[in-house]
Amino acid sequence: MKGTIIKSVGKLVVEKFGEEKWEQCLNVNGFDTDHVFLVRDDVDDAIVMKIINSLPEILGLTIQDIIDAFGDYWVNVYSPQIYHYYYQIYTSLKEFIFATPKIHNDITANIPNAVPPNFVFTWLNDKELKIEYYSKRNMVDFAIALIRGLAKYYNEKIDIQKKDNSAFVVYFETV
Ligand code: HEM
Repeated sequence: MKGTIIKSVGKLVVEKFGEEKWEQCLNVNGFDTDHVFLVRDDVDDAIVMKIINSLPEILGLTIQDIIDAFGDYWVNVYSPQIYHYYYQIYTSLKEFIFATPKIHNDITANIPNAVPPNFVFTWLNDKELKIEYYSKRNMVDFAIALIRGLAKYYNEKIDIQKKDNSAFVVYFETV
């Protein structure tokens, strides 16, 4: 997976929990404590998951807490700094959601081994949007947390109901 994901996890841990916790995480996962992940690195998926899965014990949180914190941090702190262009051109929650397949394809177009997730959208009625998630990585809970983060960014109230590991429904308050 692209290094930008784990770079963002590292920044989140350092900012919210302190440098020492991130060093501890690097250490237990076999990295030097001064290791720096770069945006364009190609990090093995298994290593990304190992790092994320080591965090509950190090931080004393549940894996769901970590996923929620990541979704919030990626959308509200990290990606507006690095990928601010998208936040300029997509000015509403719905626009941004529908642009996610294009954003992923754009960002990973020239990166060997990047296999971004894909999404298929179906309106069930004017307030309920079904989102199907396609990826072999089984990270639907991250997708849900990222959409929650986006709703916060655009100041919109939504509910999300997970259907299974490849689909969830977003309930909007306004049409
Ligand atoms: C500025 C916004 C975003 C950017 C730049 C971005 C970029 C990326 C990149 C580069 C990856 C790694 C792909 C790879 O290495 O193959 C990724 C993974 C992922 N993205 Fe995004 N993303 C953004 C927003 C979102 C949103 C809003 C969602 C919610 C649906 C989302 C869902 C995911 C998921 C679930 C993964 C994990 C990989 C997988 O499931 O296969 N992303 N994203």
